[in-house]
Amino acid sequence: MSLLTNKVAVVTGGNSGIGYATAQELKNKGAKVVITGRDSDRVESAARELGVTGIVADVSDVSAIDSLVAKVAAQYDKVDILFVNAGIFQPAPVGQISEAMFDHQMGINFKGAVFTIEKFLPILNDGASIINLSSVNAYTGMPNTAVYAASKAALNSYTRTAATELAPRKIRVNAVNPGPVATPIFGKTGMEEAQLNGFAEAMQNRVPLKRFGTPEDIAKLVAFLASDDALFITGGEYNIDGGININPLLA
Ligand SMILES: NC(=O)c1ccc[n+]([C@@H]2O[C@H](COP(=O)([O-])OP(=O)(O)OC[C@H]3O[C@@H](n4cnc5c(N)ncnc54)[C@H](OP(=O)(O)O)[C@@H]3O)[C@@H](O)[C@H]2O)c1
Repeated sequence: MSLLTNKVAVVTGGNSGIGYATAQELKNKGAKVVITGRDSDRVESAARELGVTGIVADVSDVSAIDSLVAKVAAQYDKVDILFVNAGIFQPAPVGQISEAMFDHQMGINFKGAVFTIEKFLPILNDGASIINLSSVNAYTGMPNTAVYAASKAALNSYTRTAATELAPRKIRVNAVNPGPVATPIFGKTGMEEAQLNGFAEAMQNRVPLKRFGTPEDIAKLVAFLASDDALFITGGEYNIDGGININPLLA
């Protein structure tokens, strides 16, 4: 029997990048998978490619999460794995942070995550696994990431409290902190191509293993945390970053 047979998994932001690769990995391991995203064409085509269920839901809209939960409950009844992955990266230097950008980024990365969990809780099976996709940025002072980093630091803090409070139901809550991973997220920042290439090169040079992670690297860790092989793991945070958190001052 596969590791995740008979488990129902929901992956927010599953039409692209890390969410897409994780949906694939969870499905390969036997889970029934639901992916979400904001755009119906992107969600439908990814769901078709993966052979999973696709549901459109913007996590920054709490009523959309309500309707997502109702649809998942109608089709699958209960959920065993909740991968809280939907997120955006909007770099801006301190001094040029607009209120709209703050609200948008916090609204998806932090508020969206909190209310995804809040709304799914009634249909989570006891013993379910929640995995929050954070970032090593939560611990860094990387330029232009003040709000993004704060949204992930808030998520890690929330993860610890939620793990304590949900332990009586044997629901495990963990956070995964990737370093740089090659996904479309950087192309969505509005940065010019030359700027993006310079950023990628500088970033890669900081990684002791000298490469970006792949979405599949992250998917394997998430699938492990989702599985019964990780039954004694809760309230944890797992860096998966080619060693970038070591922050080598001389490489
Ligand atoms: N790539 C990295 O280097 C890196 C490093 C550390 C952490 N992360 C985190 O990893 C997660 C996944 O990012 P990724 O790199 O895989 O980027 P990605 O390819 O851009 O995927 C992001 C996913 O989130 C969805 N999403 C964004 N806003 C949403 C919303 N309001 N409601 C529902 N879905 C929404 C996107 O769907 P739409 O089609 O609707 O936009 C997309 O499916 C994010 O939380 C990100 O912060 C990424």
